[in-house]
Parts: sequence; structure tokens; C-alpha cells
Amino acid sequence: MGCGLAGRSLDRIGTSFDHQLARFAQGWCSLNDEPLNIRTCYDAIAAKYAEKFQDEMDHKPFDRDCLDRLVEEVGTREPICDLGCGPGQIARYLRSRGAQVLGVDCSARMIAEARRRNPTIPFHVGDMLRLLEADGSWGGIAAFYSVVHIPSDQMVAALTEMRRVLKPCGVLLVTFHVGDETVHVDEWMDIKVNVDFFFYQPEQMEAWLRDAGFELETTLVREPDPDVEVATRRAYIFAKKSR
Ligand SMILES: C[S@@+](CC[C@H](N)C(=O)[O-])C[C@H]1O[C@@H](n2cnc3c(N)ncnc32)[C@H](O)[C@@H]1O
Repeated sequence: MGCGLAGRSLDRIGTSFDHQLARFAQGWCSLNDEPLNIRTCYDAIAAKYAEKFQDEMDHKPFDRDCLDRLVEEVGTREPICDLGCGPGQIARYLRSRGAQVLGVDCSARMIAEARRRNPTIPFHVGDMLRLLEADGSWGGIAAFYSVVHIPSDQMVAALTEMRRVLKPCGVLLVTFHVGDETVHVDEWMDIKVNVDFFFYQPEQMEAWLRDAGFELETTLVREPDPDVEVATRRAYIFAKKSR
């Protein structure tokens, strides 16, 4: 379904037709319904999600180590984007390590939460499938559990877009839930939603990263910590734009 042409979606997101078309013209909006479902879902849960996850880095030493490595690789002079930033807890941690950071998310309400909670960090609305940034804008990307909403047939396009906006030698750290299943969620934190979570195998993500032109650096898989997160195995892949 074309963006802005589905009355059901327009009603749901409460956006005027003209405004939607303008966004499409800017290249912001995706060409199918799924990102609209994602936006609707995260707009609805933004406040509760932010409350729940804003301090999660305090309890995630493995994630902190990975983010420390990202800052070491990228340095503190080039921007690192928290892509699919939600309320911005990853950006905040990166900033605490001295990095230049920004955050991008397709949900306007998540971006509002991120700005409110981290007023000195720049955040803006954007779609990882069609980023507004020029080629070679960022030194690094931390995509934490945001590709979990990218269907398999769009993953190479999303990764290719990330590679485009990275500088030469820029580094991507992408994390996701390990598995083969698609989990449909219709209620989250007592709010009705309509969203799919795609689990992926690390080998499959590595192949997609290669197809998108990345050079693979390191793949790490860890077991969940049920005290602080949903009990899924987690993958972390470092990949570099080498050319
Ligand atoms: C599971 S949450 C993760 C948020 C945060 N990174 C974290 O670790 O808590 C997924 C986030 O990705 C965002 N997202 C999903 N698809 C996106 C897209 N195509 N472009 C930009 N953001 C997207 C959602 O709005 C949501 O905030």
C-alpha cells in the first residue's frame, strides 16, 4: 500500500493527507504499511517505554562494553547515531563516554521522550530505510533492537542505507534477538498495538551485512539476563564500511 494512500493508516496516525504527502515527497515515509504500524505502536507506548527502559544501561554491562568499544573505534570527533533510538538511553550512555551523539527514530513521540530526557542531545524523526542525512555523515551507528522491525526482504536495503550515511571506515554496531521466529504483539505494557518482531540468526545478518557492502569485524552472542530484559538470546555485530 502506498504511503499516505491508505485511509485506515492515515486515520490511525492522525496525520493530515497533505502533511503525509509532504513527508513522502521529502523521502521520509516508507512505501508500505509496516513502518506506519511501527510508528503507531511506538507513539502509543512511548511514555511507558521510556519510563521502563531509560536507565537500563545501568544493568547491562555487556551492552556497555560493546558501546565502549564502538566509541574506541569511532573516536570522539565523529558523530555516532543511536538509530531507532527510542527514548535515547543508548545515546545518553555514548555521550557519557565522550562521544558526539545524535538519535533518530521513526516515532515522533519517542523522539519527544528522548529530547525531554536528554535535552543536550540532538534527536530527530527519520526512517532508517530512507535517511535524510548526506552520504558519509556519521562515524558510527548503534542500532539497538531497531532492525528487529525490518522484514527480511528489506534488511539489505536498510543496511545499505546505513552504510551510505557512514563515513569511510565508519562502524556499525547492530543488535537483535536471535532466532527464526516472528513474534506478533498486539498488547504491550497494557496498550493495544499491532507489531511484528523479527528474530534473526547471526549468520543470516552477517550475510546481509556483506551483501550491503560491510566488512564484518566481530559477532557476539549472549544469553539473556531475565532480571532486566525479555528472555531472548541477543546478538551484537560490529561491521565496518571499508570502502
Ligand atoms: C525495540 S525499540 C528499541 C529502542 C531502543 N533502541 C532500545 O534499545 O530500547 C525499536 C525502536 O526502533 C524504532 N524503529 C523501528 N523501525 C524504524 C525505522 N524504520 N526507522 C527508524 N526507527 C525505527 C522504533 O520506533 C523504536 O523506537
